Amino acid sequence: MPVDCSSILGRYFDGAGFNLITVHGRLVADLALHICDCTTPVPSAEERRFIEEAALLHDIGICRVNAPDIGMHGEHPYLMHGVIGRGILEEEGLPKHALVCERHIGVGLTVTDIDMGGLPLPRRDMTPQSRAEEIICFADLFYSKSPGKLELRKHPDKVRRKLAAFGPDKLQIFDIWMKQFGCALLAAPVPE
Ligand SMILES: [Fe+2]
Repeated sequence: MPVDCSSILGRYFDGAGFNLITVHGRLVADLALHICDCTTPVPSAEERRFIEEAALLHDIGICRVNAPDIGMHGEHPYLMHGVIGRGILEEEGLPKHALVCERHIGVGLTVTDIDMGGLPLPRRDMTPQSRAEEIICFADLFYSKSPGKLELRKHPDKVRRKLAAFGPDKLQIFDIWMKQFGCALLAAPVPE
């Protein structure tokens, strides 16, 4: 059954926050759907619908983080938004969508990343496992939630430079995804 993403988001955001989460989610969902159109094997209608819904909801956890630059005044570190989002969507009865939240930080976080970085996260693998999780994680890399930059799609070189700071293994994942999903960057219109 289709998920009413807007109603769910409306329970956690209002005003400018609702606008931010809706605009960002739509941009990520649209790019993810362009990937569906050009990747093989072609996703089923059911997988497409899941990808769109999960993309719209993937950042729901920011409602409880402290990130004043994007208008969020919760108590948790920004890095926790994936785990928080998982908890919210599990409570909403969406366990599969919930995993997308947890597994979309960067190109995914490993237990080693969490240990080595001393990250304030539960000690478990948080890397995308399904193709749907990979597609949404990849699409999200191209969009910022900073005011005034929401609609600007980043150049792949800029995404690469940012990921390089987190090690060659992260770049390797991005480069593999570029081969699989980068077709959409040519097909998708770049917002003005
Ligand atoms: Fe995002």
